[in-house]
Amino acid sequence: MCGIIGYTGPRKTTNVLLEGLRRLEYRGYDSAGIAVGRISGEPRLQIIKTVGKIAALQHEVPKDLEGAWGIGHTRWATHGGVTRENAHPHLDQSGKIAVVHNGIIENHRTLRILLEKKGCKFRSETDTEVIPHLISSYYEGDLLEAVLAALQHLEGTYGIAVVHADEPGRIVGARNGSPLIIGVGNGEMLLASDITAMVAYTNRVIYLNDGEVVDITKDNYSICDRHAKKLDKKIDEVSWALGAIEKTGFMHYMEKEIFEQPESIARAMSGRIDLENATAKLGGLNLTKRQLADVKRVRVIAAGTSWHAGMTGSYLLEQVARIPAQAELASELRHRNPVVENDSLWFVVSQSGETADSLYAMREVQRKGATVLGICNVVGSTIARESDGGVYVHSGPEIAVASTKAFTSQLTVFYLFTLLMARMRDMSREEGTRFANALAAVPEMVKETLNQRDHIQAIAKKYYRAKDFLYLGRGILYPIALEGALKLKEISYIHAEGYSAGEMKHGPIALISPDVPSFFLVSDDYLHDKTISNIREIKARGGPVIAVGVEGDTETQALVDDFIPVPKADPRFYPFSMVVPLQLFAYFCALELGRDIDQPRNLAKSVTVE
Ligand code: M6R
Repeated sequence: MCGIIGYTGPRKTTNVLLEGLRRLEYRGYDSAGIAVGRISGEPRLQIIKTVGKIAALQHEVPKDLEGAWGIGHTRWATHGGVTRENAHPHLDQSGKIAVVHNGIIENHRTLRILLEKKGCKFRSETDTEVIPHLISSYYEGDLLEAVLAALQHLEGTYGIAVVHADEPGRIVGARNGSPLIIGVGNGEMLLASDITAMVAYTNRVIYLNDGEVVDITKDNYSICDRHAKKLDKKIDEVSWALGAIEKTGFMHYMEKEIFEQPESIARAMSGRIDLENATAKLGGLNLTKRQLADVKRVRVIAAGTSWHAGMTGSYLLEQVARIPAQAELASELRHRNPVVENDSLWFVVSQSGETADSLYAMREVQRKGATVLGICNVVGSTIARESDGGVYVHSGPEIAVASTKAFTSQLTVFYLFTLLMARMRDMSREEGTRFANALAAVPEMVKETLNQRDHIQAIAKKYYRAKDFLYLGRGILYPIALEGALKLKEISYIHAEGYSAGEMKHGPIALISPDVPSFFLVSDDYLHDKTISNIREIKARGGPVIAVGVEGDTETQALVDDFIPVPKADPRFYPFSMVVPLQLFAYFCALELGRDIDQPRNLAKSVTVE
């Protein structure tokens, strides 16, 4: 969604801002803009805004635009259409105060009426524009004081960065429900909503909490709360190398991230398998053995792909650890007044750690007394910080909007947790060793599956013109079918639905025709024959079938139109290998259709609105 970058220091400000905005592109946006303070002559802010891509913005920026500090923004429209006027930064009446904002000001209508009565002329339809006017109404020569006064009137969520033409080199930022991070450089400072925007300049960062306000100049920063009380915060060092956020020879981030999975899965399990005791070690759970032993139920809160990971994890926990488990859609859970039982352990799964639906649902169950553990990728994200404990998945930055490597890393954490819980209950040491070895073998299994790349591309070339697809699986492969359908929809814009294969006969089978291909996931476990029957039902009605199945499954291979083999393994682990062909198939269909694969239309990487 929206992204913020601010810079003050000796570098060419426009370059840092444009580069930062380019790094934020992956979050999804529809317009962008910058405000750069002029350093010589009459103090003035130079504002450049455009609809569309950063390349268009760069085109508008004069090569010789000077300035030593400034702010920039990528906007994902919520209040008001996609227009140049609605793009950020927004200005006060005098044009001296500029604001970029992520989040939603809920009382903007009331504030707008009040400000209009005072003579403010609004130029946009956004909720954001009330902020510069409000700050201006309190401004008496000190930007921080004016921002602090204005914040007392804002209701809703915000991450903001503010500059004043008369205060060269100074940027004031504030956070409430929308991330803001300070980048501490050597003789330069940055402010951004996402570390990726500044990792090229510094790896020393400070995460702001809700209610905190920052005041930066090139050599200094100070942090306070909304009542001006000074706060001391520690500087964290991020370990990302720049290469982690570059395409390194791949055509798209999505392709790169699909191919990174053997390493990212290995990272997620690194140091966490205890072969000697045939169990798993998960350091950050903050729960004693007794507390873990007393867990009677697991509930998982998540959205989108993370929900599919949670659903797979729930199936696994029930099957292997014999703990009732259920994955909940965050957007539904929060508003249904959920029952929170004393003996339930909750997880919230979120790659970004910023998804509003998941965050608010987490807060709601915490309010009712739940212990919630986070499974997040982004270190220091809001969910990671507000959860009661948890596990980082260590995927490394995931830049493509469509989640791939984070998904398989989230699965890895659920497999580790299942092993831990199962070994505390009925699982024998021998069975624990088998499970742990099978888990350790997953990176290799995924690597072998990736060798099917060209075969999958050829299948995509055959089917990409289809208008509708069905994705079908049973048992633990049912959530993987849902994930396959979501991937195809997201990046190729082809309509696709995921169903439990057994559910087909209860309605969806009416859709089957020679124009509607079905993608089957076929395990070699106790559900194999039932799945084969479902394939026959579709073939009998003239529907083309593509199957991802186990190497050597000649029965399935003979029955279907196209077959993608994965290496034979313990069937409980097929979610890892079987999701890979679905990711690649979606990728290659989107490629054939010429889609914007890394930044699909209407989508955002981190969905910070409800
Ligand atoms: O950051 P999160 O894992 O909380 O995001 C949840 C969903 O918004 C996300 O998985 C979304 O469905 C992706 N675009 C999937 O590719």
